[in-house]
Amino acid sequence: MWILSWKGATGFSASSTAEEVTRGIEAYGLTAIITGPTSGIGLETARILALRGVHVVMAVRNTTAGHKIKQEIINEIPKAKIDVMELNVASLKSVNKFVTEFKASGLPLNILINNAGMMAPPFSLSEDNIELQLATNHIGHFHMTNGLLETMKNTAEKSGVQGRIVIVSSVLQKTTYKEGIRFDKINDEKSYNALLAYGQSKLANALHAKELARQLKEEGVNITVNSLHPGVIATNLARHTAVMRVIFGYVVRLFLKNVEQGASTTCYLAIHPGAKGISGEYWADNNISSPSGFVNDPEFVKKFWDFSVELVDRSLASSSL
Ligand SMILES: NC(=O)c1ccc[n+]([C@@H]2O[C@H](COP(=O)([O-])OP(=O)(O)OC[C@H]3O[C@@H](n4cnc5c(N)ncnc54)[C@H](OP(=O)(O)O)[C@@H]3O)[C@@H](O)[C@H]2O)c1
Repeated sequence: MWILSWKGATGFSASSTAEEVTRGIEAYGLTAIITGPTSGIGLETARILALRGVHVVMAVRNTTAGHKIKQEIINEIPKAKIDVMELNVASLKSVNKFVTEFKASGLPLNILINNAGMMAPPFSLSEDNIELQLATNHIGHFHMTNGLLETMKNTAEKSGVQGRIVIVSSVLQKTTYKEGIRFDKINDEKSYNALLAYGQSKLANALHAKELARQLKEEGVNITVNSLHPGVIATNLARHTAVMRVIFGYVVRLFLKNVEQGASTTCYLAIHPGAKGISGEYWADNNISSPSGFVNDPEFVKKFWDFSVELVDRSLASSSL
């Protein structure tokens, strides 16, 4: 579709594929963790990073599926370097175990891609008593990122190669509850709206990127943090609601990107030299874009960071993990 081929400042457009935006890049020697690589955008991201030489650590909740996908990628790309590690990002206990095991592996960490996500399920709470979309899409990733930061900082310092944290958000961050984040009503089942709660969790992703980028800049750490909208892609994301399956299956197909295009902005941010030194931005279609107004409000951004810290601390304390 012509509208998808409009090129932005990077020289790439909505129709650029992950393979195209990384063509010619040799990323041997870099190690990346990606969450949610068993399906959709994450799977294609893992495939392309492996193709470019990145040692990919696939963080998966279903290790059987993870090993199957690893084998499929290796069948296609025999030189691919891939590990599979277990992670249920909706569980702080699982996140702690993953971080501990990753650190024990002694691997460096150049790139962290927070991609795993779920959309619009009926109301439920995670095992840590946090509304499930916020728990999966943001809180687990928030806690994991904090746990891996020391390793990323050491890697960046020793290698001199800038670290990159890439957080997959969504344009639906702009379609959240009117107060943006419902600080006092996160677990309020009565007023829960599955789609607005998804938007809230995706706004959380962009707020996370913004504040972490600010903190790392202030500390003088050589790691960038950016969030992105991958486009609208028919993946398994719509599996939780019949309405969304219809929208994804029929309506959205008219405007859709395929997964090869959907993974491009993530791959650009992960390894393209054009993203070097750019931090705290929200991207779409391989170019810098405009996030929700909440992301441009420093007080709101900081308030949400503190809220996330408290939520994690409270959950860890109550389950004494
Ligand atoms: N598709 C779109 O149009 C679209 C638009 C905007 C943003 N996004 C974002 O893009 C990201 C990827 O979505 P997708 O479209 O590729 O969806 P998808 O095909 O459903 O893939 C989601 C991935 O996340 C994993 N996952 C879900 N919950 C998890 C958990 N608790 N612990 C560990 N892994 C978990 C899934 O693992 P299993 O295979 O085990 O379920 C799967 O690998 C999400 O963050 C989504 O919000 C997508």
